[in-house]
Amino acid sequence: MFQKNVFTIGDIINELDALFPEVTAQVYDNPGLVIGKRSEICTGIYVCVDILERDVNFCISEDINLIISHHPLIWDGVKKITDEDSHSRKIMKLIENGISVFALHTNYDCSPYGMCRKYISELSLSNTEYIEKVPCSELDKEKIDINLRTTFMNSDAASEYGANTVIDLKNPILKDKLFVNQNFDYLDYGLGVIGDLPISHDLSTLASKLQQSFDISDVRLYDTKKDILRVAICPGSGKSAVHAVREKNADVFITGDINHDSWLWLYEEGVSGIFVDHYDAEKHFVTEIKSLLGL
Ligand SMILES: [Fe+2]
Repeated sequence: MFQKNVFTIGDIINELDALFPEVTAQVYDNPGLVIGKRSEICTGIYVCVDILERDVNFCISEDINLIISHHPLIWDGVKKITDEDSHSRKIMKLIENGISVFALHTNYDCSPYGMCRKYISELSLSNTEYIEKVPCSELDKEKIDINLRTTFMNSDAASEYGANTVIDLKNPILKDKLFVNQNFDYLDYGLGVIGDLPISHDLSTLASKLQQSFDISDVRLYDTKKDILRVAICPGSGKSAVHAVREKNADVFITGDINHDSWLWLYEEGVSGIFVDHYDAEKHFVTEIKSLLGL
């Protein structure tokens, strides 16, 4: 879809911002263009969860000037940029080599097009709702709506991305068909998802299914020995969701990041747990974004 010397980095950012609006990100987050220039012609795109130094070196060697990462490279203030530690060395190398960095983080997590979509489809969840809704002001909704109407994502990419119907997002009449199999409103944003399995599972069977679907080698189980029908999922950090998970009567909580005390509390409240490595829980970000951009 994106051929060399055709699109600017700003064009690609606009495309992604239409589906994952930055205004929906959490206040503590730092998504968006973290390093770089919108006006540069894009010579290549590299998609990853975290940016390691080896990723930067690869992009330099392959003349790739846009990295799209899930986790923002910069969270807090950076006081020194030298070659004396890996974090600042990466920042320096990226700037020196004209490589832009764009992050889709909690704005990706909370989008109906984002991180939880694959969990809903792989586990065939129904009666889905967000664990925590992200409030959007009317003004934000208007901006998002305009972005969706003007985005240039082609219908082939939309089909590959999992839509059942051929979608032309420029046509507002068709946009509500994009997630015909899901219960989300297209302007509905939230973190984590909860829904019902088609049939009840025991914990180890559910864990095996998850491992197979997401290519996960190892999980840790907290088994209350109850049958599982209602599943809550926070692929990223799940600590802040535990009370909502309990209140929404989930039988199991699947997450990629949580502290020990929160697990124990949830377990004693009668909720089983499947703990997945953070990277494993979110690595499908790479294939999803590549598919979306037709890479
Ligand atoms: Fe994460």
